[in-house]
Amino acid sequence: MRVKSKRGWEIPESQATPESVYANRRAVLRAMGLGAMALAAEAPFATAFAADAPAPDPSAKLYPFKRNNQYKLDRPITDAKYSTDYNNFYEFSTDKELVELAQALPIRPWTIAVDGMVEKPFRIGIDDLLAKMAAYREERLYRHRCVEAWSMAVPWSGFALKEFVALAKPLSGATYLKMVTFMNPDVAPGQSEPLYPWPYVEGLTMAEATNELAFLVTGMYGKPVPKQDGAPLRLAVPWKYGFKSVKSIVKFTFTDKQPRTFWEDLQESEYGFWANVNPAVPHPRWSQATERVIGTDERVPTLMWNGYGDHVAHLYDHLQGERLFA
Ligand code: MTE
Repeated sequence: MRVKSKRGWEIPESQATPESVYANRRAVLRAMGLGAMALAAEAPFATAFAADAPAPDPSAKLYPFKRNNQYKLDRPITDAKYSTDYNNFYEFSTDKELVELAQALPIRPWTIAVDGMVEKPFRIGIDDLLAKMAAYREERLYRHRCVEAWSMAVPWSGFALKEFVALAKPLSGATYLKMVTFMNPDVAPGQSEPLYPWPYVEGLTMAEATNELAFLVTGMYGKPVPKQDGAPLRLAVPWKYGFKSVKSIVKFTFTDKQPRTFWEDLQESEYGFWANVNPAVPHPRWSQATERVIGTDERVPTLMWNGYGDHVAHLYDHLQGERLFA
C-alpha cells in the first residue's frame, strides 16, 4: 500500500485543476447521480493494476543518452522522486497522484501514425523510431513550467522534433503539426468522463516544431520515460506552459489548419493555442509572476519565455495581434 505524506508544496486538486472545470465536472456528475460512484471508481483500478508485473521495456538498454551541454539550468535538477510522482495526466486522473493508475497503459507494441500533408503517410513502431533517430538521441536539461504555477527541472532524453519532422517529409504547404494522445478508455478511466474532449490534442506551428528547442521525449533521468510522465513518446516545449507538452503520442498530422486543442475545447477563455510563458500576463484566476519549485519550499520569479527567449522570441515577431501568452 502506498503511504502518502503531504508535502509543503502540494495543493489540493480543487486549487490545481482549473477551477471552473473542476466545479463543472462535479456538478454534472452530481446531476447525473454519478458523482461519488464515478469518482470512487478510480480506486479499485489502482489496486487491480498495481498487482500486474510491468513488462520489461525493450528500449531500456539504449539509456543513458549523451547529454547535450548546450542546454543549461539556472537551478538544481528536480529529484526524480518528485517529478515522477506529481503528474498531470487527465486520461488517468485529475488527481496528481496517478502513478499506479498509469501503469495500466500498454506501451509495447506502440505504433505512431504520420499522416496529412506529407509525401507519404506511414506508421512506425517506437523501437524502430528510436533506431532511426540513433544519430540524434541526446539528453537535455529543461525547465518545465505548468500553467498551474509550479515548476520542475528535468533531464529529458529523446531527440529534436525537427529531426522527426525531417523523417516525416511534410509538403511545403503544411503550416501546423497536430499531435494526438492514445484513446483507450479500457485502461485510462479518465477517458470515460464525457465532459472532456478526448483524445488529448495539441499543436505547434511548423516554425515552432522545427525550432531547435522542441524536443520529443522518450526518456527521463537516464531511463525510459515512466508511464505517468507520458511513455513512450511525449513532447517537451519548455518555453510554453506544460499543457502543450502532450503525452503518449500516437499520431502526428501535418496540416494547413490550426489544430483545435484539448484545452481550447474545454475552456477557450483560459487556455489558448499559443500558451507561451509570460510572468506579466496572469491567468484569469491566478498570477503567473512566480512559481512553486516542486520538491522544495521555494517560490521563485517566473522568467519570460520560461528563460528561453533567445531561442524562440523571434518566432512571434509577426504575431503580435495573437493571444500569445494564454
Ligand atoms: N498530455 C496528456 N495526454 N494528458 C494530460 O493530462 N497534461 C499536461 C501535459 N501533457 C497532460 C498531457 C499538463 S497540464 C502538464 S503540466 C504536463 O503534461 C505534466 O507533465 P508531467 O506530469 O510529466 O510533469
